[in-house]
Amino acid sequence: MIFESHAHPGGSLPWLNLIRQEGVKIKTFEPDPHSAEGNLQRIAELMTSRTRVIQVSHITAPTGIVMPVKAIAQLAREKGCWFHIDGAQSAGMIPFSLREIGCDSYATSGHKWLGGPRETGVLFIKEEKVDLVSPRHVGSYSSNDFDFEGKLNFVGGTRRFEYATRNVASVAGLAEAVRFQEVIGRDRIADYGASLGARLQEGLSQLPRVTVLTPSRRELRGSMTTFIVPGVTADRVFGHLLKNDGLRCRPVTEDGLQAIRVSTHVFNTAEECDRVVRSMTEFVRTL
Ligand SMILES: Cc1ncc(COP(=O)(O)O)c(C=O)c1O
Repeated sequence: MIFESHAHPGGSLPWLNLIRQEGVKIKTFEPDPHSAEGNLQRIAELMTSRTRVIQVSHITAPTGIVMPVKAIAQLAREKGCWFHIDGAQSAGMIPFSLREIGCDSYATSGHKWLGGPRETGVLFIKEEKVDLVSPRHVGSYSSNDFDFEGKLNFVGGTRRFEYATRNVASVAGLAEAVRFQEVIGRDRIADYGASLGARLQEGLSQLPRVTVLTPSRRELRGSMTTFIVPGVTADRVFGHLLKNDGLRCRPVTEDGLQAIRVSTHVFNTAEECDRVVRSMTEFVRTL
């Protein structure tokens, strides 16, 4: 199977575990920050007749690159591979239709861009493919057609994956968070977050010693902005932003990076983005 080297541990560890348990072989590709075609090509080059699964982050966690998921879905279909999307950074940030993308499965966390409670999430599996996925975790409610002689037929649809007693309050909280975003509007959320990202990119790219890693082209980015100060650790920049200006931005140390990521959602303001730029202006003066 194939995934990108920037995959978040939430997306990569389940596969690393399967290397141990089932001898699954993985290959990774470095995301191309410059072009959608580049990413498609890097995946295509890794594929062989033995490739069974392709997985990408819809939007990569370290630097916020939007992957060409529709084209990847097409490629996967042509080659008879399963295509799974790790959507932890896309649901609630950008609008999309899973039907239009054409992926086989998609998963997202409820507590991130959707603004829902922790320990909630959503798994989508294409209707006609549900029966191809055998549940790994089962319990009460997975089946109502079983016996102790070995019969075990799961309930229809994706409900079979919702085993045992659930925390209904959390699920209701997630539904409410989604409703709240629908009142604002998915396009408005995406456009607002991306416009704050553009403001950050414009300010940060003027600074000496600061390099923005997130693509500037709108079609390749969403509402995240990742930058580095080469030669300076992410912890040091993080500490400066927090202690001097009360800005808590995520240090990114995955894949050998020493970067800072700023995520701009509906509750962030242009003034906060300007504060990040002012704070970084002060920081680079001290170097
Ligand atoms: C792309 C991606 N996948 C997975 C995760 C993990 O999400 P969770 O902790 O909800 O499993 C994250 C978290 O930041 C992420 O960015």
